[in-house]
Amino acid sequence: MKIAIDGPAAAGKSTVAKIIAKKLGYVYIDTGAMYRALTFEALETNTNVEDEQSLSDLADQIKITFENKEHGQDVFINNRNVTNEIRDHDVTSQVSFIAKHERVREKLVEMQRQLSESGNVVMDGRDIGTFVLPEAEVKVFLVASVEERAERRHKENLEKGFESDLEQLKEEIRQRDKIDSEREIAPLVKADDAIEIDTTNKSIEEVAENILSLVKNP
Ligand code: CDP
Ligand code: CDP
Repeated sequence: MKIAIDGPAAAGKSTVAKIIAKKLGYVYIDTGAMYRALTFEALETNTNVEDEQSLSDLADQIKITFENKEHGQDVFINNRNVTNEIRDHDVTSQVSFIAKHERVREKLVEMQRQLSESGNVVMDGRDIGTFVLPEAEVKVFLVASVEERAERRHKENLEKGFESDLEQLKEEIRQRDKIDSEREIAPLVKADDAIEIDTTNKSIEEVAENILSLVKNP
């Protein structure tokens, strides 16, 4: 069984994907973390985000791995734990530029498909239902208003201990969604056979239950 969860930034994809994977005993694969890991490494090595060849070489040189932990999932680049670093503002502001390149996507999609061969998986991202796992039995496209999504990130930041500007968060989310939706290769778009769920006024548990009922009655 493969479950594909796509949607724009902060729609709740990873939170519900983790819950569903845990409940069903499936493997959770966070594809956004892979694009973020490559972006982190590009910034560390001063690789130009427009230089497709160098980025593709970099993707070949690094090993991105995941480790499941009680609190969620840790992400490693060549065995270095970068779980927190890949969520930094610098990475978030650059990741969509790196994710535009065809050769970068080829490399990461290959990894994603390999990981999904392990059996039952819940994979979240932007192009899972349309491109990475078009054969997925359950496809969900999560959406929420940009106001709600910015509020969620704002709250998340406060919980991490820093204050963010709500208007700036809104603008950044809009910008990232625009770049992700308008790129030529595997853009952010709902698959024809995906079920759209608007999470704006829904709790995390409600959304997870909703998806679990689709798994039982696909
Ligand atoms: O969690 P958040 O919604 O902020 O983003 P993410 O899922 O970690 O993804 C970060 C970025 O990676 C996205 O804005 C896309 O540019 C890119 N991405 C992608 O192009 N394709 C995917 N399957 C997943 C992420
Ligand atoms: O993975 P994605 O960027 O789509 O979103 P996320 O990181 O799973 O969720 C962003 C934030 O929204 C998290 O802090 C979740 O706890 C919160 N959330 C929520 O308040 N209500 C939902 N129905 C889903 C997520």
